[in-house]
Amino acid sequence: MCQACSINYDQQNAFAERMVDIMNSAAIALMVSVGHRTGLFDSMAGRAHETSMDVAKHASLNERYVREWLGAMVTGGIVEYDPESQGYRLPAEHAAWLTRAAAPDNIAVSMQFIPMLGNVEDEIVECFKNGGGVPYTSYPRFHEIMAEESDQSVVSGLTEHILPLADGVMDRLNSGIDVLDVGCGCGHAMLELAEAFPNSSFTGYDLCKEAVDGANNTAKKAGLSNARFVQRDLTAFNESASFDLITAFDSIHDQKDPAGMLAGIAGALREGGVFLAQDIAGSSYVDQNIDSPVAPFVYTISCLHCMTVSLAQGGVGLGAAWGKELALEMMAEAGFTSVNVGELEHDFLNYFYVCTKDS
Ligand SMILES: C[S@@+](CC[C@H](N)C(=O)[O-])C[C@H]1O[C@@H](n2cnc3c(N)ncnc32)[C@H](O)[C@@H]1O
Repeated sequence: MCQACSINYDQQNAFAERMVDIMNSAAIALMVSVGHRTGLFDSMAGRAHETSMDVAKHASLNERYVREWLGAMVTGGIVEYDPESQGYRLPAEHAAWLTRAAAPDNIAVSMQFIPMLGNVEDEIVECFKNGGGVPYTSYPRFHEIMAEESDQSVVSGLTEHILPLADGVMDRLNSGIDVLDVGCGCGHAMLELAEAFPNSSFTGYDLCKEAVDGANNTAKKAGLSNARFVQRDLTAFNESASFDLITAFDSIHDQKDPAGMLAGIAGALREGGVFLAQDIAGSSYVDQNIDSPVAPFVYTISCLHCMTVSLAQGGVGLGAAWGKELALEMMAEAGFTSVNVGELEHDFLNYFYVCTKDS
């Protein structure tokens, strides 16, 4: 400890180690995303030690790139290396979190958000200086990655875990009701339900044409005549008593006008209707998020995507870290008289708000 300047050198050195650790982890995150996109984790899973030539051959990739990637994977503690045989192996315990076969536990899917966010750094730096936002069009792979993420975090547990959080909804879906998904993206949740509940009708609204067109094509190919997707800006959403169930999967906080959309949802529900919203778990107060294992990721993805895409629309920029306290306040202001907050054991990243209103 330096008495005069009261610098704690142990703390200073420990912080340097932490910064180096962050730099390495950030680099590994990029390489995990590459491993997912190139199919390397999938092709290595279940194989014994093999040379970089064989790893590349089995994945139909260029050996020089694969060897450098393997260097990052070995030194990053993801792949094992046997110097004698110069063999690389992905342990089964790691494959359990990194392969398509491991879905919905494939963490490599979420890792793709890191390079996606890096793409917009220049535009974000400009926004720090001048305000404004970065539009959806600046994120070329956003809907693709989001749909993959949603397949794992929402679609895989929709009928087994998520819908049962709202009492009676499964029975009503079987009987036949009208369902709307706001900010539906590529529509995977509605497509899954349209197949599971043929007596019910499913509509998805989303701002982005590319996502909505893809959803309609998938519905057509699958012969799902009870699912339709419409490009629509949900700002000033106002449809009187038209739906029995409205869902919002990770799509409130990045709206231009989330309060307006919530009020519109309350108005669009028929008597006895239910609004089920999945949104990022956490508090509205930064000090209460310090112990959350994913808070830095949430604030980062918010600043570099959720908040800025709202600001780009001239919106309020609520952001992904809006938190439970503010969510409950806004849901009450929108007209919901009862809101139950559910949590699922397998999904520590989200809360599930089940909202109803007095008739
Ligand atoms: C985080 S994504 C979630 C997508 C989808 N629900 C899922 O779970 O994959 C948020 C969605 O809200 C949509 N969105 C944002 N602003 C909107 C607006 N003003 N009107 C309609 N949709 C909007 C985006 O296009 C995007 O698809």
